[in-house]
Amino acid sequence: MSIIDVAYYGREQTAVKHEMLRRYLGPAARIIGSFADCFVYIDCCSGPWNTVREDLSDTSFSIACGQLRAARAFLQERGRNVEFRCLFIEEKAVPFGRLQQFCDSVDDIEIKPLQGDFTEKVDEILRFIRERPNFFPFFFIDPTGWSPLAISAISPLLRLRPSEVLINFMTSHIKRFLESSSFETKFGPDYMQKVLGLSGQDRDDQAAYSFADEIRRFYPYACTSVVLNPLRNQTHFHLIYGTRHPKGLEKFKEAEKSCFGFMQAVRLDAQHRQNVSGVVQETLFDLTPVQDRYLQGLRTHYLGQAFDAVTLRTSDMMDEREAWKIASRFPLVWKSDLHRWWQARGPREGTVRRQQFD
Ligand SMILES: C[S@@+](CC[C@H](N)C(=O)[O-])C[C@H]1O[C@@H](n2cnc3c(N)ncnc32)[C@H](O)[C@@H]1O
Repeated sequence: MSIIDVAYYGREQTAVKHEMLRRYLGPAARIIGSFADCFVYIDCCSGPWNTVREDLSDTSFSIACGQLRAARAFLQERGRNVEFRCLFIEEKAVPFGRLQQFCDSVDDIEIKPLQGDFTEKVDEILRFIRERPNFFPFFFIDPTGWSPLAISAISPLLRLRPSEVLINFMTSHIKRFLESSSFETKFGPDYMQKVLGLSGQDRDDQAAYSFADEIRRFYPYACTSVVLNPLRNQTHFHLIYGTRHPKGLEKFKEAEKSCFGFMQAVRLDAQHRQNVSGVVQETLFDLTPVQDRYLQGLRTHYLGQAFDAVTLRTSDMMDEREAWKIASRFPLVWKSDLHRWWQARGPREGTVRRQQFD
């Protein structure tokens, strides 16, 4: 038996993205539902896209519905009657037809399907959210390219208070277009200045970090997470998450940490199934003793970056909370890492050997 649902064979990166969504959205909806009366989930680029399941259970919108139902039941058991509403947007006619069928088949959650480019539907999106008092919207923006991520296009959504956002930043695709002038128009001169002239891993990292910097103008807690290519040692995309509350950050980081083993196993499984010459093999049964060295090395790389970012600022006499705000921006860096490092500080604040953070 494989670690991964066969529906994701050949698109294992989607399995990791869906697992992150599942593991974050459930806990987040339970917490947000403890103070908001209406949780609004907005899937801005719904699809379906490359789905193989007839019932569309391998899509982000179906997974979200499952998590929202579970959160609603959890809250009801605790005496909170929270309304859960969804807005699913898709621009292309054929997937929109399937999306609409899915929405028609759901009768226990209010779902509005909307056809069109979501960046041109901002007024309609905001109107839908504001139809109820004491709302809390969560935006999931998962486009096929980078064009809809122009900051000017999405900023009316990101400005909304309260709200949270999860963005799929298609790094493997975007990095090929970084030099183009339309990129500068959409992402701004600050973004370009940070990214140009870099290469390799630095370029991959900075392409995502600089976009997260733009998101941080709206959400003080914005962090970057990686989803790797299943077969090659490179980043497939970054998930950029933004919230205004440290609790949201804590839950997102917990989801990332709990997905680390999953991503590792999924990659090893995919690589085992398809060897270098492309011959499909039996699936790997026992994954426990094997480690994905590339992923482990990448975590060490990000721990080093977080360490440097925090120690550069320790002369400010910052406390652990402030240090976490900085360290958490980096992928695969968790609160337990910072805590370990903080505990190990020397007698003078900030005197710590770099290895202690590796
Ligand atoms: C990567 S797929 C979405 C996959 C889906 N979120 C999932 O994980 O199951 C992107 C989808 O968004 C649609 N799309 C791309 N840009 C869009 C835009 N600006 N507005 C609305 N839909 C868009 C595409 O047609 C495609 O179906």
